[in-house]
This record gives sequence, structure tokens and C-alpha cells, in this order.
Amino acid sequence: MPATVVVGTQWGDEGKGKFTDLFARDQHLVVRYQGGHNAGHTLVVDGVSFKLQLVPSGILYPHITPVIGNGVVVDPRVLISELDMLESKGVDTSKLRISGNAHLILPYHQELDKLTERRLGKNKVGTTKRGIGPAYADKAARVGLRVQDLLDPKIFRQKLDVVLKEKNAIFAKVFNQLPLDADVIADEYLNLCAPRLAPMIGDSVGIVHDALEAGESVLLEGAQATFLDLDHGTYPFVTSSNPIAGGACVGAGIGPRYIDSVVGIAKAYVTRVGAGPFPTELTDEIGDALIDIGHEYGTNTGRRRRTGWLDAVMLRHSVRLNSLSELAVTKLDVFDTFDTIKMCVAYELDGEIFTQLPYHQSVVHHVTPVYEEFPGWKCDISGITTREELPAEALAYLVALEAQVGVPIGLVGVGPGREQYLRFNV
Ligand code: GDP
Ligand code: IMO
Ligand code: MG
Repeated sequence: MPATVVVGTQWGDEGKGKFTDLFARDQHLVVRYQGGHNAGHTLVVDGVSFKLQLVPSGILYPHITPVIGNGVVVDPRVLISELDMLESKGVDTSKLRISGNAHLILPYHQELDKLTERRLGKNKVGTTKRGIGPAYADKAARVGLRVQDLLDPKIFRQKLDVVLKEKNAIFAKVFNQLPLDADVIADEYLNLCAPRLAPMIGDSVGIVHDALEAGESVLLEGAQATFLDLDHGTYPFVTSSNPIAGGACVGAGIGPRYIDSVVGIAKAYVTRVGAGPFPTELTDEIGDALIDIGHEYGTNTGRRRRTGWLDAVMLRHSVRLNSLSELAVTKLDVFDTFDTIKMCVAYELDGEIFTQLPYHQSVVHHVTPVYEEFPGWKCDISGITTREELPAEALAYLVALEAQVGVPIGLVGVGPGREQYLRFNV
């Protein structure tokens, strides 16, 4: 049976959680394939809001097996508090499975993330300070601890002692900081976290393949987004994993032949948290309106998001990088009161027009967007459930977007609630 990837097409917070939850209704497994608790995926079901960081967005359905794949970096303390939060809201979390090959985030990763950002000063990335970059760096350097090490205290301690020695030397010599204590870390991870998580730790690759071979459907949930991708994003202002669709194969342990659909989630405008280029950024009252109406504050860190007009040049690149089958557009309702809506269809620099993303980032830093303007619809679309009910102006904006980007729009979100969407192309 096929696998579907849900991927962010911009700089994150497009509404991946909402649509993953919606798609999960017809799936068997939902697998998170990368990232960690830098993600914040919000689901609103029957007026109740769920903010997920590590747990896959299918968790709310009893028929779904949610899987944290090998490509994720897991802070077990955060995972446990997320499970507690879900249980307190009546959600059964017992079906969650965590890959033994996923890497652990340890307290020194978080410290290093904070200290590195501080040292970078005005050049900082603006990370979530969750330890994501340092944990993936240790994975690549082959000194990481994995989730399966929680099940073997001797190995956990051996690895921790070796790596902590090096980290403490860095804390002392580079950052003039006090060392961390291996006993404290081992006690928290092995005595508090391990017993709680042990029944959930297992062979995620086996689980995914057993499902596929049994004809079940698998949804692969991306975190972050295409332009935060370590290889293809606006480096160095990126995360340290590969959110693009190709990352789903690595982070879930399947080959590309299983993937038959890639849904790119695109907000009807663009937001970004943290530093880095943003050609269509608005720093005026329109940008403020997008923040206020769209509630554009980080799910996770509470930071005010940067906002701008939708950028079709970026989306065209996202279509290429992810082999998108279709787009799902979110937050169209945020434009309900706007007189005019703009869409960037190309970039201009020194008289040269770019319809594809310039490969050299210095160009991206300096381009001026070329906009097409659309009249607003000036009415509330948050209750609309069919394409036919859309005001002509909203329809025109979406049809123009499809033409610009070259893939169909499957679904359109008109509100945060699970049922607030319409099918655009059936
Ligand atoms: P994710 O990280 O991609 O899952 O997105 P976030 O959850 O961080 O941010 C998206 C925000 O928009 C959340 O607060 C959602 O509840 C909300 N949202 C999602 N889709 C829509 C929509 O179509 N309209 C409105 N108004 N809000 C939406
Ligand atoms: P979801 O899954 C938006 C951004 C950070 C920073 C950069 C690197 O909710 O869309 P990191 O902590 O990953 O090393 O930070 O990436 N970032 C996100 N921005 N949504 C996210 O996740 C993000 N996860 C990381 O703000 O610019
Ligand atoms: Mg988010």
C-alpha cells in the first residue's frame, strides 16, 4: 500500500499538524520522520486545542499507530510531559511506538545550543534552543546516544561518560561554564524516563514495513519545512535535519518506491521564526495585521513570527524539491478583511527577473519581489465547506496560485478546526 508524505513548503508553521490529523482519519500509521521538539503542531478538535511537539499528529484517532521514526531526535523528558498532557485530555497514548534508532537529546545539547547562539551574537540563527542542532551534530559525529541505549544502562553510561568528558571540556574552556554531572543525567534518563518509555521503544522500520506489506496506508509527517532543510534551505538559517520529502525515506526507513503522494502544506501568506532572508517580508501594518488576525506567535516558543505575502517563487522550488503531487493551502480566512492581496510571482535584481529561486543566497538576500495584486473578498469564509461557496475573489486567488505553482490545490483551510476546510479539486 502507498505512503503519503506531508511536508511544509515554506519556513514552517504552515498547518502541517492540522492536515496530518485530517488525513490520518483514512490511514493506519502516522510516522514523524525528522526534527524534534523544535516542532509545534497545533490541532483543534471540537474546540479543544492540542499542541504536539514530538508525538505524531495522528495520535487523536484510536485506530492510528503513531510512530516516532529513526530520523527524529527525542528528548525523553519532553516526550513524557507531552504524553502526560495528552492523557490528561483523555487521549490514549499507549499505541505510540518510538524507534530505538532515534537519537536522544541530552541536557548538554540544550546548553550548547543556547551558548552557541549567544556566542554568534547578531549572526545567530534564532534556533528554538531545544538542542536540535547539537544532537544531530553528535549523530553525524557518531558520538550520539540512541533511544535504544535507554534500555541498556551499562551502554548508556559508557557512552555518556565518554561524550560528557568532551562536552565538559568545551563548557569549561570555550564557554567558561560549570561541568554537567553524569550521575544526574543518568539518573534522570535511566531511572525516570526509561521505565516509562520502555514499552514503546521498538523496531519502527519493522512496524512500518509490516503495515505496508499488510496493505495498510502510512502517512509520513514532516516537521519544519522545505526552506529550513539543512541541504536545501536558506543555510545557515535552517534546522539540522532534512524536512523535504526525500527525508521521509531516510527518517522512516522506506524506499522511495512506496511514496505515491506528497502533499505540500502552504500558508496563504508566509511566516518565518528566527533569522534569515525573507524576500516578501512585510514590516508594516499589513504584516502586523497578519500577525494579529493569524495569531502568528510560535506554538512552542511564543516568539512573534515574521510575516509576508505568499511567495510563488519559493513554492515552485518546493514543488521541485519535494515532487509535490498537490498543495494544501491553509489560513485563507486570515485575508477575510483585506482590501487587496498580493502574491509574489518573480524576483527582480538589477533589472534581471528570476522566476526560479536564485541558487546564490546573496541574490536571495537582495531581490525585490514582483507582485500580482488580487482584490479581497471582504467576507467571512470560515464556515465554507465547498469550492462552490467560495467568493469569486477567493477562487481567483487560488486559481492564480495553481497556475503559478503548477500543481493542483487539493484542500483549502478556512479555520483552525479539524472540519474547517474545503476540497478544491476533488
Ligand atoms: P505546523 O507547525 O505546520 O503544524 O503549524 P502550527 O500549528 O505551528 O501553526 C499553524 C496555526 O494555524 C495553528 O495555530 C493552527 O491551529 C492554525 N491553522 C491551521 N490551519 C488553519 C486555517 O486554515 N485557518 C486558520 N485561521 N488557522 C489555521
Ligand atoms: P514546525 O514543525 C517554524 C526554525 C527556528 C530557527 C531554525 C533553527 O512547527 O513547523 P532549530 O531549533 O531547529 O535548530 O532552529 O528553524 N524552526 C522552526 N520554525 N516552525 C518549526 O517547526 C520550526 N522548527 C525550527 O525558528 O529559525
Ligand atoms: Mg509549528
